[in-house]
Amino acid sequence: MSPAFPAIMTEQLSKKNEAWSGRFSEPVAELVQQYTASIDFDKRLAHYDIQASLAHAAMLAKCGLISQADLAAIETGMARIAAEISAGSFKWSIELEDVHLNIEKRLTELIGDAGKRLHTARSRNDQVATDIRLWLRATIDELCAALVAVQGALLDLAEPHAATVMPGFTHLQVAQPISFGHHLLAYVEMFSRDVTRLTDCRARANFLPLGAAALAGTSFAIDRDQLATALGFSGVCHNSLDAVSDRDFAVEFCAACTLIMTHISRLSEEIILWMNPAFAFIDLADRFCTGSSIMPQKKNPDVAELARGKSARALGNLVALVTLIKAQPLAYNKDNQEDKEPLFDSADTVLMTLRIYADMIAGIRVNAKAMRSAAERGFATATDLADYLVRRGLAFRDAHEIVARAVRDCAARGIGLDGLSDAELLALSPLIEPAARASLTLEGSIAARNHVGGTAPVRVKAEIEAHRKRLATA
Ligand code: ARG
Repeated sequence: MSPAFPAIMTEQLSKKNEAWSGRFSEPVAELVQQYTASIDFDKRLAHYDIQASLAHAAMLAKCGLISQADLAAIETGMARIAAEISAGSFKWSIELEDVHLNIEKRLTELIGDAGKRLHTARSRNDQVATDIRLWLRATIDELCAALVAVQGALLDLAEPHAATVMPGFTHLQVAQPISFGHHLLAYVEMFSRDVTRLTDCRARANFLPLGAAALAGTSFAIDRDQLATALGFSGVCHNSLDAVSDRDFAVEFCAACTLIMTHISRLSEEIILWMNPAFAFIDLADRFCTGSSIMPQKKNPDVAELARGKSARALGNLVALVTLIKAQPLAYNKDNQEDKEPLFDSADTVLMTLRIYADMIAGIRVNAKAMRSAAERGFATATDLADYLVRRGLAFRDAHEIVARAVRDCAARGIGLDGLSDAELLALSPLIEPAARASLTLEGSIAARNHVGGTAPVRVKAEIEAHRKRLATA
């Protein structure tokens, strides 16, 4: 017999609402039971709930709060429960409200009184806070791996296109020539920041709430540090009220997910444009597209559209969580049960999207000719001609004016700047020698932007290599 629980506590609890029904004179209303139950969605925490319970039990035994025999029984019972859950044979019951009570009840069914002692020095409030943090940690690791895969796919596509010229846009108007590889690397930057954001969130969440019990801590002499170490936390939460009520990490996580989906959404928007026959810059593999039931010619980038749409859902989840928390008095309130669905939904949405994107990016076919001719059409090298004049001694504003007039003239004649004859160039400014033509070529333009962060192919290649090194150690 454990010293913590005298025999009187081991009597059978009454039928419904086993965990607290001694206080009540009637069972909970059926609709209320459905309303308050979280089992349908929190059962996905089961694995983490068991992991935390096993560590808690081991700590209780080490501190002499339960016997070694109780611990052994709990371990055996939990192993059986874990197997039942994996096999799909575990009977989840809505009457037992949530994952914690379902597992505890089954444990007691299997091993008797030892199961009832597991909840010593613990509340569902610190229990659920611990479970979510454990789940979040594992989920962040999965998401980071998926982000690394997407970056890898982008690098693989960027590498052969380090020198492929496309128009760079501002205001979605042709601005200056850039390398397609350079364009893709912009997304690698975004997704690499996303990894660091998730990693930061993980580090801040990685503290142990257990020991906070319901809200004030526990009167038992437990060893929270040992428990934290056993569960891989970097320390313990230092305020019991905060430990059970803090969901900042959930907000941070959903914010990071929102940004990931925002980046995905921007990329999707471009993919959709590039797929449009008016651009025809890329083609997606058929397996990522759908047709139309009426228009036989259609090949629609549905996945990209849907991902753009799902970014709205991620933002909705973030807003839901912040709103959930903002008016809660300390400490735990049942409101917090509403944290799980937005969290799970954001995680699922982002993970599936990233996995599909890694594959979809890998299957992109590039139409370099279409990219090039689009860059040729929009006076993309006008800035280069102005820069040339500056190097010959003209003030930039004056150079800008001369080239702007030349563009107007060329546009009226339906030719590019490189369609001007040597004499016409000279007429624009006596400073323009035939050598200026080099600065009017697309290749000359991108090669000239040869500094860290510039679009010159040598720089793009160097960045790809640096990214690959970073990912290899991620
Ligand atoms: N299902 C609850 C949740 O998700 C567990 C904690 C419930 N605690 C309580 N005292 N009602 O937050």
